[in-house]
Amino acid sequence: MTKILEFYKCNICGNFVEVVFPGAGELVCCGQPMEKMEEKNTSEEMSEEKHVPIVTKTQDGVEIKVGSAPHPMEDSHYVMFIEANSADKKYVKRKYLLPHEEPVLKLKCDCKEVVARELCNIHGVWISEKQE
Ligand SMILES: [Fe+2]
Repeated sequence: MTKILEFYKCNICGNFVEVVFPGAGELVCCGQPMEKMEEKNTSEEMSEEKHVPIVTKTQDGVEIKVGSAPHPMEDSHYVMFIEANSADKKYVKRKYLLPHEEPVLKLKCDCKEVVARELCNIHGVWISEKQE
């Protein structure tokens, strides 16, 4: 059973999908089950300070930066997108990024609570805080 906003990846062709509406079936691509991408918030093996999104309130919304330390934005290692979700998961905003762009998402909104996620092309999905 999938859950809303989960990410799954095909380890053969690279398809990367997000669940919009959950269902009971298993997600399959290239003839095998897709891998569920775990949302990391801490890590002993990877540099979490370069990956965990930081959400900061601004005068007219929020600013989301990737990491308390700069994450590389090189051709071979970069942040592919930053996503902002409302705590109730009713609103989703995603900004796709290219190498050499600044990994920042600025939103004008009347946001009370924002949960941010980002995808590093090497180190996977990271979340600002865990939600039940
Ligand atoms: Fe990374």
